[in-house]
This record gives sequence, structure tokens and C-alpha cells, in this order.
Amino acid sequence: MRILVIGSGGREHALAWKSAQDKKVDKVFVSPGNAGTFLENKTTNVSLDLNNFELIKEFCINENIDLVIIGPEQPLVMGLSDFLQSNKINSFGPSKGAAQLEGSKTFSKDFFAKYGIPSAAYASFDNFEESNKHLKKIKYPSVVKADGLAAGKGVIICQNLNEAENAIKSIFKDNAFGDAGNRVVIEDFVEGEEASFIAVVSKDTIVPLATSQDHKAIGEGDIGLNTGGMGAYSPAPVVSKKLNEKIINDVMLPTMQGLIEEGFPYLGFLYAGLMIKDDDIKVLEFNCRFGDPETQPILLRMKSSLVDLCLSAINESLESYEIEWDQKHSCGVVIASDGYPESYVSNKEVFIDEYADPDIKLFHAGTKMHDNKIMTNGGRVFCATALGNDLKEAQKKAYNLVEKINFDGAYSRKDIGYKGIE
Ligand code: GLY
Repeated sequence: MRILVIGSGGREHALAWKSAQDKKVDKVFVSPGNAGTFLENKTTNVSLDLNNFELIKEFCINENIDLVIIGPEQPLVMGLSDFLQSNKINSFGPSKGAAQLEGSKTFSKDFFAKYGIPSAAYASFDNFEESNKHLKKIKYPSVVKADGLAAGKGVIICQNLNEAENAIKSIFKDNAFGDAGNRVVIEDFVEGEEASFIAVVSKDTIVPLATSQDHKAIGEGDIGLNTGGMGAYSPAPVVSKKLNEKIINDVMLPTMQGLIEEGFPYLGFLYAGLMIKDDDIKVLEFNCRFGDPETQPILLRMKSSLVDLCLSAINESLESYEIEWDQKHSCGVVIASDGYPESYVSNKEVFIDEYADPDIKLFHAGTKMHDNKIMTNGGRVFCATALGNDLKEAQKKAYNLVEKINFDGAYSRKDIGYKGIE
């Protein structure tokens, strides 16, 4: 079989690596990929213009691609999956309609309200004056969100009116998020512990993936600016068996049913970002894709075939699919370029000391090959991921791997997994 993975991050390296493990798979193309996917066995990077759907279709036909796995949200929100499916190419990822769950905060909040999915109270505006007026009527802290895709940066927690006014000004007047800020959602702040719930969904059938939790803040103890995620671990004790069931019944099933009623039956990874307080669950957001870095520790634990899982979702035979998981724990620590998530410098040569342990895997993210050298090429550069008999052991092994990766300005948090260990 021949697979095409779309994307260039750590998530896509993990998706490509896992696909390539499958004996049925002869070749995995990754577009555009990174140095990690370049170095992987059976895997080839290919540079396709991801805005040119016709060209991607031609590539799939010419290369006899049996399955396309789309990693990031942008091509999904633009409708790449529908386009490929309508051209009879097996594409694993939601339609443009269903991807609005991530692509528009107003769409998702209106959808939650319509289908009774628990979420914070909100209002949505398309101009500065009305949103500014609204800010004077609400309690603080409060949350201002740019409506569209903003690379994880469009959510601003405001402690007081002044901060909220600045947020609205930066969005509407200074155009901080471009078109993604043509609308805003202003919602109540929700307290609790954040958790991710990620599943494979095909219309009305759901197969939950192993539980996980990521660490979004840049600093130890979960302080400082929000990032795409500085590390993640699996399983996550915060999602107990009971809570798992509640999330499926109160959040996932009504979402899947609602999408069917709206005419957008879901296919793909569906990721709910949740806030948990005792028995209370609130949906903060949905992502129409696998999480990054959650994918890396989750796929390290997956024993079954990712390719079979995706194909059974596409072929609507997910009902009988059971994923086999390694009972070990896993932990992934992101190594970033100093300065991320704000400005940082790329093009630094990476030096990797030798290591040999079947329980560890270095997933690349912002890397590229240049003159046979690995160079940094982004904010999040690697995710050092490891399995252990318990989370503490997985954490120790992941940090041993972090020690072996050197480049100028390498930064990682020193406490990834601490919440699971407490
Ligand atoms: N780790 C958060 C995300 O993938 O959006």
C-alpha cells in the first residue's frame, strides 16, 4: 500500500512513522514533511502546493495512493478531504462543513448551543463597537477569541475590562489575526483542569483513542504564554473511566449526531478540548484533527495498525474495530527554539548523540535537511517521546533523550507529565 501524509509537524512525523510500521505499507509520502520524515525508512518527502487540490489529486492518481491522512487543520478547513473523496481517493479527514467546528468559533459555539453540548456562555460580534459595548456588561476574567484559525494564538484570557478592551482593539483595529479576526467570540472564563479527548469518528461511530493530556503553557508549572503544546503524556489519569463515559455521552455523541443533522457527517480524528471540574465538563473547543504533541505519545502506545483504523473509518466498518494499546505509559517532551511562541531564530545545526532504546523515539517537527545536516526550521523543533512502565519512568527516558539533542537555543520545559505523576 502507498500512503500520503499531509503536513510537516511532529504529529505528521508520528503519523508517517506509524503508517510505515505496517507490513502492508510499501511507501509513505509526506508533503512537505521535515528532516525526520526524510530520514525515516520507507518514507519520502514530496513538495506539493497544498493550495492546489488538482495537483494533489494528480499526485495521488499517478502514485497509486491508497490512503491520504491529512494532519493539520488548514487544508481540512479549506476542503481538501471533500475534494479528494469526491475524486474517489481515500482521504481520512473531515469535510469542509464539519471542519468548521475548528475553523469558526462562532459556528462551534452556535452548534453547542443548538445541540445542548456543555460549554461556557458566549456572545459573537463582527465589529469593534458592539463587542466593546458588550465588554462593559460582563464579569471578569473573561475570554476573547478570534473566530477563525489563528495557529493556537487567537484565545486571549482577560483579567479585567482594560485587558479585554486591548484584546478587542488588537483584533479589530490592529488586525492582529488577519481575517481570522473578522469576528470575535467573547465567553465566560471556565475554571478547572484541562484535558484532551481524542477519538476516531465515522458518522455515528466512535472509537476513542488512549487518553492524554498536554501542557500548553511555555513555562514550568503551566505558567506563561500559551503555545501549541510543550509536551504531552498518555494515559491521563484526569480522564477516569466514569468521566470517559460522560464525555462520550454528553459531548461526543451529541456532536456527531448534530453534525449528521447539519448535513456534515464526521470522518476523521475529532479532538475535544475540555475543562473538567469535579463531575462538570465544559467544551472549550473542538479541533478537527489529531493533537500535536498528543499524537506522538499516543501513537507510541498504539500496537494496532493506524492504516487499518483509518480505512475502516472510511469504509464505515469502524463499529467492530478495537485498538490494541501498549499498557506502558508514554511521555513526549517538546524541544523548542528559544523565544517560541514569540519570535525565535531558525537555521541552527542540530547535533544528536547516539542512543539505542526501543522504548524511545525522537519525532521531528520544525526541522529540515540542508547539505546532509539537520537544521532547525520552526518554533517547536522535536518531541522526545518515550515509553515506561509508569509515567515516571517514561518521563525519565524522555528527558534522557532530550539531553542527547543539542542546538543553539534549545528550550524545553523540565516538568512535562508532572500532573499525571501527582
Ligand atoms: N495540543 C493542542 C493542539 O493540538 O491543538
